[in-house]
Amino acid sequence: MKDVTLGLVGVGRIGVMHANNISALNDVLNPQGINVRLKLTDVAADHARSVAATIGAEFLASVEELIASGVDGLVIATGTGTHPDLIRTGVDAGIPVFCEKPVAMNVADSTPVLDYIRDHGGTVQIGHQRRFDAGYLEAKRAFTAGELGWIHSLRAVTCDMTPPPVEFLAGSGGLFRDCSVHDFDILRWLTGREIVEVYAKGSNNGDPAIGEVGDVDTALALVTFDDGTLGTVSASRYNGAGHDVRLEIQGSAGSLLVGLDEKSALASAEAGVMFPSGESHKTFAERFDQAYRSELAAFVELILGERDNPCTPEDAVAASRIADAAQESLETGLPVRVTLAARNQGSRS
Ligand SMILES: NC(=O)c1ccc[n+]([C@@H]2O[C@H](COP(=O)([O-])OP(=O)(O)OC[C@H]3O[C@@H](n4cnc5c(N)ncnc54)[C@H](O)[C@@H]3O)[C@@H](O)[C@H]2O)c1
Repeated sequence: MKDVTLGLVGVGRIGVMHANNISALNDVLNPQGINVRLKLTDVAADHARSVAATIGAEFLASVEELIASGVDGLVIATGTGTHPDLIRTGVDAGIPVFCEKPVAMNVADSTPVLDYIRDHGGTVQIGHQRRFDAGYLEAKRAFTAGELGWIHSLRAVTCDMTPPPVEFLAGSGGLFRDCSVHDFDILRWLTGREIVEVYAKGSNNGDPAIGEVGDVDTALALVTFDDGTLGTVSASRYNGAGHDVRLEIQGSAGSLLVGLDEKSALASAEAGVMFPSGESHKTFAERFDQAYRSELAAFVELILGERDNPCTPEDAVAASRIADAAQESLETGLPVRVTLAARNQGSRS
């Protein structure tokens, strides 16, 4: 049996979910001859101690103690602003790092992190879990096989049922960087193409506190790919029907809709149509349960040198570059070009 000890830093909204998923990994990995152990830390020590006790993990008082105690990989699930320093800490320790998206608050803050990882030979996987979701994987397969013909439209949707706490939103970088960045990543990953222009709008009709911290509660971005294909990326924090994540791909030979199943947060207006009839997903944790487990299993395999990195920091920053351009477009009211040269900010068209 190969033993792998993961050190988790941050057990907030997503960190608790990762802690539970890591604890459950052995059901899948033990039959493959891999045994995973978990150690964790959080600046909210009492909370972290109780999470550790609940799932049978070891609590350490700080990241430094966590690393000194001996871990084979670091899992970072703290707020976005802390990612750069913690990624460097993991790279300095010479261990592979899994870090929640995004690498940093924006591309300008991400670029030195990319340089650091490259200069120090670090291995860092970023948590864009949709790359492991069965529906997105099938869409990529069908797209790549040419089964849909040439694509005329892509429509991506990510809607939370209720907003996260305003304190979280204040440090999130905004709706495009926090939420739509998943869609920007998946559009690049699925099509293998680059988005070259973004034109974005946003609105605030929910809690005024969201506007007061400089964010919008609903937004729409029109994106243009490098071959001229058009797409839209839509997001909201107020989707009463449930947590709604979809991608509609329409081509000359066929269409596919990722996220259309019995649990879709949709209702038909047509008489006699009962589909979808199931209880909708309420949270991202429910919607992507399988994907979150799979990405951590992949991280364990990455630590063991048994697979390639499924989401590099360069991939994640490419998605962040589109998010930065969308944010700039939202603020200026103008379309923004997304160019590789504009590493620190999108340039206006
Ligand atoms: N992949 C996804 O679908 C997804 C979903 C939600 C959040 N996220 C990302 O996960 C990250 C965390 O989001 P969240 O909603 O869980 O935030 P959160 O505020 O609920 O939790 C963050 C936790 O980190 C702890 N913390 C902060 N700084 C620390 C430090 N230096 N050392 C130790 N602990 C520290 C806090 O005490 C808190 O418990 C964000 O970067 C966010 O973008 C990703």
